[in-house]
Amino acid sequence: MSPLILDGKVASAALLEFLKPLVETLDPKLVVVQVGNDPASASYIKQKVKSCDTVGMRHEHRHLDEGISLEELMEVIDGLNNDEDVTGFFVQLPLPAHLESHAPDIIKAINPMKDIDGFGAYNLGKVFLSKEFEHLPPATPSGIIRLLEHFDIEIAGKHAVVVGRSNTVGKPVSIMLLNRNATVTICHSKTKDLEDQIRKGDIVIAAVGRPKMITADMVKEGAVVVDVGIHSTDDGLCGDTDFDALKLKVSAISPVPGGVGPMTVASLIRNCVTAKERQMAIR
Ligand code: GUN
Repeated sequence: MSPLILDGKVASAALLEFLKPLVETLDPKLVVVQVGNDPASASYIKQKVKSCDTVGMRHEHRHLDEGISLEELMEVIDGLNNDEDVTGFFVQLPLPAHLESHAPDIIKAINPMKDIDGFGAYNLGKVFLSKEFEHLPPATPSGIIRLLEHFDIEIAGKHAVVVGRSNTVGKPVSIMLLNRNATVTICHSKTKDLEDQIRKGDIVIAAVGRPKMITADMVKEGAVVVDVGIHSTDDGLCGDTDFDALKLKVSAISPVPGGVGPMTVASLIRNCVTAKERQMAIR
């Protein structure tokens, strides 16, 4: 039987449609900070701006010179933190080489109330507390959860195996699955019995960053697979899983492209709406 395709275009369109009236009432403003000209970043930013337009959200693109100094970038961040009209902003990653090692300081400089990427310690820490405190969760983990919820995939009581332990995806999505009562295993490059661990998963989140690394023999029959990876190969785009082989074995799987990607963007927009709601409650 063919699996359920966890179509992120459909699920993100539903989330954006839900957000539209909230955007109209709250009138939030999102600012994108881009340093330099990384081509992949340009494409991601285009998708984020397009989704802002879909929901009617005000947005501004601060495109900064590749050679900007750390001090100058910090001044831009300071200005955005103090601009009452700016609801939320993010600094698109990766940064140019001379700034990359300062990324933690740059993220730390963003006011947690405006950190719509949810990458800062304050917002990540709140994700650790419980589901109720997930106010500005990182956008990709939040998109993964929304994707599962949209397609009525049960999480509670399931064994979720997360492959990858990044601060932006693997670690936070593990906690968010735990917050929804899954039993969670986190696998990484030093996991000894990786294939056996993945085979235990009722839900497998593939966030390894290696093309087609997860093959059909590694997953349990009937598993639900969410593929976070996106890689450009000679044969076109692919994810971290061997989609064509897995789809003969699993009960549900997200495609690449058109799975997690659009969910990440919609979750970023949702965070900007949430940020405005919380800022208004305080003012
Ligand atoms: N680069 C790739 N994905 C992301 C993201 O979600 N946020 C930021 N700031 N940079 C990225």
